[in-house]
Amino acid sequence: MSYLTDDARAAYRSANRITSIDAPTLEDIIAENPDRRTILRRGLMLSALPALGPLAACDDNDGDVQMPTPEPSPTPSPTPTPTSYEVTFEAVAANQEDDVTVPAEYTAETIFKAGDPVIAGAPGYSGNFQSSDKTELQAGGNHDGMHYYEIEGVDPNTGGLLAINHELPDFNILFEGGRPDPQTATDEQKKIALSAVGVSVIEVAKADDGSWSVKTDSTYNKRYTGNTVYRVGGPAGGLVGSTVKGTLNNCSSGPTPWGTYLTCEETMDNYLDPTQPEEGYGWVVEIDPYGELAEPTKRTAMGRFNHENVAYMTDADNRVAFYMGDDTTPGCIYKFIPGRAFESDNRSANIDLLDYGTLYVARFNGDGSGDWLELSRGKNGLVMGATDPGNTSQGDTQPTTVDFPNQAAVLINAQSAARVAGGTVMDRPEWISVAPDKTVFVTLTNNSGREITDAANPRVENRHGHIIRWKEEGDSPLATGFTWDILLLAGDPSLDTPEDNLEGNIEGDTFSSPDGIRVDPQGRLWVETDHSIPGNSGVEGETIEDVFGHNAMFHIDRDTGESRRFLVGPEGCEITGIAYTPDLMNFFINIQHPTGNWPVDGQEPRSSTVVVRRTDEKPVGA
Ligand code: FEO
Ligand code: CA
Ligand code: CA
Repeated sequence: MSYLTDDARAAYRSANRITSIDAPTLEDIIAENPDRRTILRRGLMLSALPALGPLAACDDNDGDVQMPTPEPSPTPSPTPTPTSYEVTFEAVAANQEDDVTVPAEYTAETIFKAGDPVIAGAPGYSGNFQSSDKTELQAGGNHDGMHYYEIEGVDPNTGGLLAINHELPDFNILFEGGRPDPQTATDEQKKIALSAVGVSVIEVAKADDGSWSVKTDSTYNKRYTGNTVYRVGGPAGGLVGSTVKGTLNNCSSGPTPWGTYLTCEETMDNYLDPTQPEEGYGWVVEIDPYGELAEPTKRTAMGRFNHENVAYMTDADNRVAFYMGDDTTPGCIYKFIPGRAFESDNRSANIDLLDYGTLYVARFNGDGSGDWLELSRGKNGLVMGATDPGNTSQGDTQPTTVDFPNQAAVLINAQSAARVAGGTVMDRPEWISVAPDKTVFVTLTNNSGREITDAANPRVENRHGHIIRWKEEGDSPLATGFTWDILLLAGDPSLDTPEDNLEGNIEGDTFSSPDGIRVDPQGRLWVETDHSIPGNSGVEGETIEDVFGHNAMFHIDRDTGESRRFLVGPEGCEITGIAYTPDLMNFFINIQHPTGNWPVDGQEPRSSTVVVRRTDEKPVGA
């Protein structure tokens, strides 16, 4: 959750008596054989999947699938030197500079700024405020989660599609005086604001000199905004309606094994246009970045809450589970298992896969075990007159009575259903990532209001957050049990207080408020932070920025636990969004809500996508 979200919806939530959220608020998988290429999971290519056996079984949330090793060529050629992905970069020091800082051998180039043209022929932002017919065709603001998709017939290491979420408008480039009051905003003002959220799909290409740019004339380029109409699928469709105007607060995201994009709505109220029914928001929305399949659809079977991202795990039978966090104080962790396997050789057979299946919530037990509790009407207490214990982490609560007359009610009120069923309320789940070895990671960003602890959320006033990992029983996406432990407690040893809850146990470079997390196809763990700015460190006289510098990106060695700072952002921003080319030589990173003089000196600050790469054509991190 960006603190800007909380600012933006405060008036709406106050007027509607909604408790405010306490928020300070593909690829060369294989190193040993670079000839092995992964492929895009589009229809015909996925037909190779079942034959892959164990390779398919180690599929992860990147949706990346390997081609079988080619038959040996008749003429032996020299064995190429294996590409090394070993992390060797020299750590960047914490700093508060108004720039993107990367290690010495790296470059960071801005390629896609809020207000840049998306649709071919569109005008871009040029310093003047514009009307909605223009802003609707441009990049939205607050770039967040994203994913890189291959294009058939294009070398994926030099060109592809980026699907990019826009969590919020960059109000500073849309309106004189910033964000208009939604209660008094004109229809045109609402339309402009709603044009700057949603998703951008852009084609990007690498030039011979290594630099990347957006192909502004590509017919793939598309915008899905708060003014677009979306289909509604799944069991809650009858209550929500067959369509909803707008997607909103598109925080993070994730791919599916069939090459679609799941954009996650991180709010359950339409604070930019309060005339719209709130049940229309807080869903996962499926979009086909190629524009071939069904129109964009809100998938209600996956539950309604403040969705952060989606990460998936598959098995050898093409069954799949989607993991999701509710970025709420506190919020639960969920998984959704479609009722049938996905079809790897027929994309269109999967267009309703996310409308039928079972939703579960996680319970983290004190002995390191965990259970997935089914959120189906009639099970685990989900009946008429159910007792919701409330947000038990924040202090004494008064249970309330909640009715679940049908599955639609369970899904629309999934947060309550999760608590009724016994799900563990966590310290604001942000991203989830599934590693190639099927370890699942989740960031718990912070929860400074926690008073009651449990094994999985062990610190009162958890200002700096922590990271948990788990393994499913049998490494199966269909498991109903798992084992878990805490990877690390964030903080810094300099924050020494009698409460003993701010120091954390990070080895190496320390940070606060982990948010983005992704394990790349080489199993390397990357973490991005979103601490509040300047932030309360918990020690008087020291802000979070004093201790940790600007928000940053880190590599965490999964064997030694060592944390190494890779990138530091400019003033006022959070770091988010991780995508990469299959060769891992180009990382796409998002810089959200900068407030200084970045990315263009002398202009308004703008949220932007940057490409980070080495200058000597080696993989990022090496
Ligand atoms: Fe949009 Fe929970 O970060
Ligand atoms: Ca955030
Ligand atoms: Ca986030």
